[in-house]
Amino acid sequence: MNINWRLKSMAFHWIDVFSLYRLLSFLQKHVTRRSNVHISEIAGEWSTHQINFAILKKPIVLEFGAGRHLAQNIYLSQFFGLQTVVDLFAMLDLDQVNEAALQFSQLCSNIEFKRMADIADIERNYGVRYLAPLDVRSAPFQDNSFDACISTYTLEHIPEEDIITIFKELRRVISPQGLISAVIDYSDHYSHTDREIGALNYLQYSAEEFRRFNHKVHYQNRLRHYSYCNIFDALKFKVLRSDAYDFVQPPAKLSPEFERENPALCATRGIFLLQVEK
Ligand SMILES: C[S@@+](CC[C@H](N)C(=O)[O-])C[C@H]1O[C@@H](n2cnc3c(N)ncnc32)[C@H](O)[C@@H]1O
Repeated sequence: MNINWRLKSMAFHWIDVFSLYRLLSFLQKHVTRRSNVHISEIAGEWSTHQINFAILKKPIVLEFGAGRHLAQNIYLSQFFGLQTVVDLFAMLDLDQVNEAALQFSQLCSNIEFKRMADIADIERNYGVRYLAPLDVRSAPFQDNSFDACISTYTLEHIPEEDIITIFKELRRVISPQGLISAVIDYSDHYSHTDREIGALNYLQYSAEEFRRFNHKVHYQNRLRHYSYCNIFDALKFKVLRSDAYDFVQPPAKLSPEFERENPALCATRGIFLLQVEK
């Protein structure tokens, strides 16, 4: 389904105004079906986290930004110890979690399907503890509780100042020399459903102009790969891996706040592997 991005932005505006978040979830599940689970192969981002943590033996892992179906966590349960997965909003859909587990059992010989009747079953069956609503900026975890942290397609939805707070908190709750693996989507998410615009369409607008298209329910920070490099350097994380990839053409007009000459400007995907130094 092609959806004009300006119309979509207008719909998001009214969803925010009237807090129609349940209606949006319903439409995404039953009408557009964009939130439904279809696992035909192991997604690159799941293998990325697995490879990034290959040196850790059954690490105890934190994830922030769980989403609805925990497919990633069910897959990674083969390689990780307990995963604590948190989200600002309690949007978990148990039908979709069961569907993900069922589809994995048909794809991976190591994953057995065990039906889950409630959230406790997810931890019992797959070692995934789901905690929501919970803001990772002020997580109720002891110092050094985790060996590692993962984040998938979440950072691009968080304002820069909150990213800084989150990574300060991660330094506290992850043990010394622990790892953080992050996969980030730098593309304009409106382009995912509007074929008429390019993947970096949003870079033509100034911060002021883009504010009217940017809504709480679909917030995009527009940070580039180089912006994250600067944040992680300033916070003194050791960067073990920094890959920018899937480059596309920038829009003809580029807002001056973006670094035209920076080679990472036009990447639409990024991977970071950071080490916590205390
Ligand atoms: C796009 S979804 C993540 C999807 C999921 N990781 C996946 O790959 O399917 C981003 C999630 O991050 C959550 N989030 C944003 N800020 C957060 C915070 N400070 N603490 C916890 N979760 C947060 C949002 O509620 C949202 O569910």
